[in-house]
Amino acid sequence: MPPAHTRPQGFTVWLTGLSGAGKTTVSHLVVDELERRGLLVETLDGDVVRTHLSQGLGFSKEDRDTNIERIGWVASRLARAGAAVVVSAISPYAVTRATARAMTEEFAPFVEVWVRASLEECTRRDVKGLYAQAIAGEIPEFTGISAPYEPPDDAEVVLDTERHEPAESAAIVIAALEERGLVDAA
Ligand code: ADX
Repeated sequence: MPPAHTRPQGFTVWLTGLSGAGKTTVSHLVVDELERRGLLVETLDGDVVRTHLSQGLGFSKEDRDTNIERIGWVASRLARAGAAVVVSAISPYAVTRATARAMTEEFAPFVEVWVRASLEECTRRDVKGLYAQAIAGEIPEFTGISAPYEPPDDAEVVLDTERHEPAESAAIVIAALEERGLVDAA
């Protein structure tokens, strides 16, 4: 790896929130904007990670913790190498998010973004049809229905996707990165 002073400053943007809150949608827009500004960007999306690195893991607390710790570890390596890493995963447990933060902050800044939408709104949106199945008891341990989501109390950014369009939410994230000097102003 090139010496630290010649590497770009990597960082991790970690989007947490209920299924259907808008994490993936916002992350795509954030990634597009970071790439437009010339950064080297990598994404780690829960749904995608679960088809590769975390294949075979389920949704028990233990399996979710393993999933999040794996994502945190990979994010830390990528950020250390100078990448802008955009994570989107429910990451429902506060302690496990703190573990992921500690792992990555050892090498590069960590910006936690709570992509907030009420359970009622996520259930109404039900983009993937999973809430209906979870309410019918067909999916066990479903976040918000039969498994917990612990809201962050220390997130650097809180998005309200019931009030803001995805593009506005993405702009709020980019502004937070600019404020921290992680991204040059456009
Ligand atoms: S996490 O809890 O380990 O962070 P992750 O973000 O990787 O979850 O995966 C969540 C995705 O898995 C959801 O968007 C949904 O598509 C799918 N999923 C399947 N079963 C469940 C479940 N029981 N609870 C939550 N999400 C589920």
